[in-house]
Amino acid sequence: MSELIQINDISLERHRPGPERSQRVDYRAMAQAVPAVGVGKRYWIRTYGCQMNEHDSEIMAGMLQEMGYRPASAPEEADLILFNTCAVRENAEDKVFGEIGRIKPLKRRHPELLLGLCGCMAQEEKVRQFVRDTFPHVDLVFGTHNLHQLPELVVQAMASQETVFAVWDRPGQVVENLPKLRQDGVKAWVNIQYGCNKYCTYCIVPFTRGRERSRLPEDVVAEVKQLAEEGIREVTLLGQNVNDYGLDLGDVDFADLLQQVARIPGIERVRFTTSNPWNFTDKLIDVIAAEEAICEHIHLPVQSGNNRILKRMNRGYTRETYLQLVERIRDRIPGVSLTTDIIVGFPGETEEEFQDTLDLVRTVQFDNAFTFLYSRRQGTAAARMKDDTSLEAKKDRLRRLNELQAAISRRYHEQLVGKTEDVLVEGESKTNPEILAGRTRTNRLVLLQGSRELIGRTIPVQIVGAQTWLLRGAPRTAIREVTG
Ligand code: SAH
Ligand code: F3S
Repeated sequence: MSELIQINDISLERHRPGPERSQRVDYRAMAQAVPAVGVGKRYWIRTYGCQMNEHDSEIMAGMLQEMGYRPASAPEEADLILFNTCAVRENAEDKVFGEIGRIKPLKRRHPELLLGLCGCMAQEEKVRQFVRDTFPHVDLVFGTHNLHQLPELVVQAMASQETVFAVWDRPGQVVENLPKLRQDGVKAWVNIQYGCNKYCTYCIVPFTRGRERSRLPEDVVAEVKQLAEEGIREVTLLGQNVNDYGLDLGDVDFADLLQQVARIPGIERVRFTTSNPWNFTDKLIDVIAAEEAICEHIHLPVQSGNNRILKRMNRGYTRETYLQLVERIRDRIPGVSLTTDIIVGFPGETEEEFQDTLDLVRTVQFDNAFTFLYSRRQGTAAARMKDDTSLEAKKDRLRRLNELQAAISRRYHEQLVGKTEDVLVEGESKTNPEILAGRTRTNRLVLLQGSRELIGRTIPVQIVGAQTWLLRGAPRTAIREVTG
């Protein structure tokens, strides 16, 4: 079910959805006795990119802990350093190369130090070639499809004088029962689906993550039940394109799974990302509206407000159908918060076409938007399109878009001042341990004063201050305990 396509100087595997049911395999059954080579040693993982990468790092940490490794507080103290990388934009790749270069002196001081590169960049042949040519001090390169092989690869790298390259060019079976080291005691990420079949013309993810594979609903439900027993209050279901969940299984869809997860006792909040504007069914909207636990927040990447650009992006919807979807969602889910992703400066985008994006942002009034300058990704279809807009013009478009969105986001926050919101207190604020941080159901960050005992509880909080990207709140005296 795959076809090798040769583009420019690199070959990439183009995956097609297969009619076959995704197969699963149990990590516990396939893993040989986990080698205890990490006893007395420390690891440090640097993660770039999306939530799926963050979660992959939790899985790698879980495997390393089983090998006896313990976390290091800084790279200088580590015996094993892993760079879990992102390939979505070029500047993310440049950052990784910069850091790998900077880490070289550590290898001189500590010759036993193992240095590994994994994640989406490792799936790119041109990156592997660059590592071969420029960074011989890297000991191990492995990809997204064989993450579960980490323990045996570490042993191989320890024994080898040469860099170990172990990258599968296509996914194998869905691996279940992977160990995970989750740092957060309140909320957790849960994979429901791997890969993407959509081939948006700018995007490298279908190449680095392979075809779509869904986990079985019973495996997802079992994991979430376990998390609830461990005291987790909120789960975020992860997939590149969650609306397609189950297409490879045949008898279940995303709405069914969401409903099952939302009814698990102890799980107070359910989120999901990313759902795309295509295939966003009325059934899905109804489940979100009906289930108490599913938060009123939908991340709905639009990418552009212009139909010609949307077509060239291969997005599969138009400005009009997107706006109709927004209307359907807002009609049925009162108070829903909508966020989006937008790319500025796609090849051939004119100023007028960019104006359509600004106009769409004004029309929809997103709560927040993640905005990106288009980045050319070798091997994707858009990389071969003519791009004659200057970088200055693109940056100027991005600036105008960001200004518009910031004003809209701020207005939403100002309207909340004086109102009371249910806030799940997640922990200490990242910048000030004296202050607590939590989120509203609509995913707005709220900072508040209060005792650490509030962590893990949902409490009514009066909003007393508004900034563009955060709210300040005061807990109301009556504390409502989490039930259910
Ligand atoms: N479905 C995935 C999309 C991953 S990429 C998810 O949401 O997790 C996340 C966002 O990065 C995309 O929505 C898009 O806005 C942006 N992006 C992807 N490829 C890009 C490129 N080549 N240049 C600029 N931005 C890009
Ligand atoms: Fe990328 Fe489009 Fe899939 S943005 S992850 S190809 S839905």
